[in-house]
Amino acid sequence: MQAFIENMPKAELHLHIEGTFEPELMFEIAQRNNIDLPYADVEALRKAYDFSQLQDFLDIYYQGMNVLQKEQDYYDLTWAYLQRIYAQNVIHTEIFFDPQGHTSRGVAFETALNGIYRALEAGQKELGISFGLIMCFLRHLDADDAMATLEQALPHKDKIIGVGLDSSELGHPPEKFTEVFKKAKEEGFLIVAHAGEEGPPDYVYQALDLLKVDRIDHGNRALEDKALTKRIADEGIALTVCPLSNLKLCVVDDLKNHPMREMLQAGLKATMNSDDPAYFGGYMNENYIQLAEALRLTQEEIVTLARNGFEAAFVSDERKQVMLSNLDAFVSAA
Ligand code: ADE
Ligand code: ZN
Repeated sequence: MQAFIENMPKAELHLHIEGTFEPELMFEIAQRNNIDLPYADVEALRKAYDFSQLQDFLDIYYQGMNVLQKEQDYYDLTWAYLQRIYAQNVIHTEIFFDPQGHTSRGVAFETALNGIYRALEAGQKELGISFGLIMCFLRHLDADDAMATLEQALPHKDKIIGVGLDSSELGHPPEKFTEVFKKAKEEGFLIVAHAGEEGPPDYVYQALDLLKVDRIDHGNRALEDKALTKRIADEGIALTVCPLSNLKLCVVDDLKNHPMREMLQAGLKATMNSDDPAYFGGYMNENYIQLAEALRLTQEEIVTLARNGFEAAFVSDERKQVMLSNLDAFVSAA
């Protein structure tokens, strides 16, 4: 099963590029930017990756991204991620970035955007990995800040396909951003939001009703509400699920108790993703392999997760068909 997963073509739809910052690269970039990290070495930094809830992780995640200052830093970060997923047979990726995590430190929106985008273009050209770029609003900041960030994105609609909502969920419900997402939709952006990771089912309802999401990031807690689960299934709204993230942030206590199978059995279009792989101990293949082992996923369930990833991707019908055909050909030959 491990070789099957490793060789299977895959799409990733929930990935924070700042969450791919491996400690080795972080130290290298910190050094060239003359920034002191509050850790003696790579090992000490990795030891700090011990979280009991989302906020514990976010504190370290924002600290880590502080070393990103120049366009080349963003390029190097993104290129390192693309090389890793290329080796894992990920053929399409939709990545998030958090502009406010950079502009709040005086880094220009375009510095982050251009570095990330240039690497994505190189990845498409040199590695054949298609991509989409989604910018997320930090929900712990106020709605005016998010609106100002949306304004900054308007000249770059050719590079940014969608907007999302991330950071500290509890206490920051989707309704706080209704106006921002209304404008984003009017401007033609696709819409996603983290909902039901730590927050209650009501936040998932708000994401659907007020933000009008095209996909839900995580969505685990939607399962607590049968009517909500049925609605998401009926509307065919995909969930971008992140098992190793859920384990590391204590959304689940053990991968054996992860709700992925329950999601599939409820008819939900659940997909497999890595979220912040440098912090959570694994990229796409590790997520698939460890969950498959814990839940004893069948080959059919594994292929369904991969198929859901391609079906839920924000790509042209043509690209979607190519990717689905790749998967079908792989399964037939296996
Ligand atoms: N930012 C990066 N990863 C996140 C996650 N899993 N939840 C909320 N915000 C995030
Ligand atoms: Zn996330």
